[in-house]
Amino acid sequence: MLVLGVESSCDDTAAAVLQDGRTILANVVSSQDQVHGPYGGVVPELASRQHVQSILPIVDGALKHAGATLKDLDGFAVTYGPGLVGSLLVGLSLVKGMSFRTGIPYVGVNHLEAHLLAIHLEHEVAFPYIALIASGGHTLLYSVRGIGDYLHLGGTRDDAAGEAYDKVAKLMGLGYPGGRPIDQLAKSGDPSAIRFPRAQIKKCAYEFSFSGIKTAVWHYLKGQGEDQWKSHRADIAASFQEAVVDMLVGPTIKAATANSVDRIVLAGGVAANSRLRTKMKQKADAAGLQVYYPAPKFCTDNAAMIALTGYHLLKRGRRDDFRLNADADLTL
Ligand code: KG4
Ligand code: ZN
Repeated sequence: MLVLGVESSCDDTAAAVLQDGRTILANVVSSQDQVHGPYGGVVPELASRQHVQSILPIVDGALKHAGATLKDLDGFAVTYGPGLVGSLLVGLSLVKGMSFRTGIPYVGVNHLEAHLLAIHLEHEVAFPYIALIASGGHTLLYSVRGIGDYLHLGGTRDDAAGEAYDKVAKLMGLGYPGGRPIDQLAKSGDPSAIRFPRAQIKKCAYEFSFSGIKTAVWHYLKGQGEDQWKSHRADIAASFQEAVVDMLVGPTIKAATANSVDRIVLAGGVAANSRLRTKMKQKADAAGLQVYYPAPKFCTDNAAMIALTGYHLLKRGRRDDFRLNADADLTL
């Protein structure tokens, strides 16, 4: 079964062609980082305009790369939520149009479900597993018991982990998105130089909170003065990162052990973080658990994971009609 996946939920325009749910024939992403960089965050109106400009060349490029044409496809898969409504509408409208024109079926895909399943693009991971989605918009823990069978365990009470990275990077003048530059800078810093607070939600072991750490970094920078803090930027980045990583690792390991699940899967842009990958592996090894993480290009937003999820939906006979609408607050 040949599926074209399309993703435009936030600030990446992406298309992918997937054969039989396992062979990636094309995976194309156009990032809008340069457009949003000067603002230090995604500007929704600019994001949708940029998607409108990029989406046709991206879809054409994916088909060309796969050596396929529209008529070779067995189905379309497109993200219909959650995300920015203007951005979602661009991908969804295009796919509806292509489906209407060709008579080839399409399915709408939940972006979060796609992150949960992205690991299967590269690894055979048995169910059940505990999945941590950590991205710019979400920090969520699920028990994934099978395809379509997801138990929500917890999530962030305020900011997402990636949002904390982006905001701290903005405070430190490291550009947008901030995850990768902080990850890089932290490599030459001392993670124990500054003890930033690790928020814990006492009554809910699987909940997270990242708004406090951002404020703590702000106070630290203000207290030091620019010249002083700039002289040990790498230590600040490493110490901030260590606190975020600790806050992500603790509840994830606890979720696995308390639910007697011995596999952990990381997903979302923050799962590309080198320290998170290392520390999660160390703690999981110590607890006798296995950790799987996708290649960085499948952690951040991509259409291969949308095509994969769509493939499973189509295989189960799901077809969406043209009344399906974008849902900015779609849950799983
Ligand atoms: O999954 P994603 O591409 O988009 C959303 O659905 O949000 O995640 C983007 C987020 C951004 O906040 C970015 O700063 C963060 O992932 N990110 C990282 C790294 N690479 C991307 N955070 C920490 N370390 C990284 N290496
Ligand atoms: Zn995402």
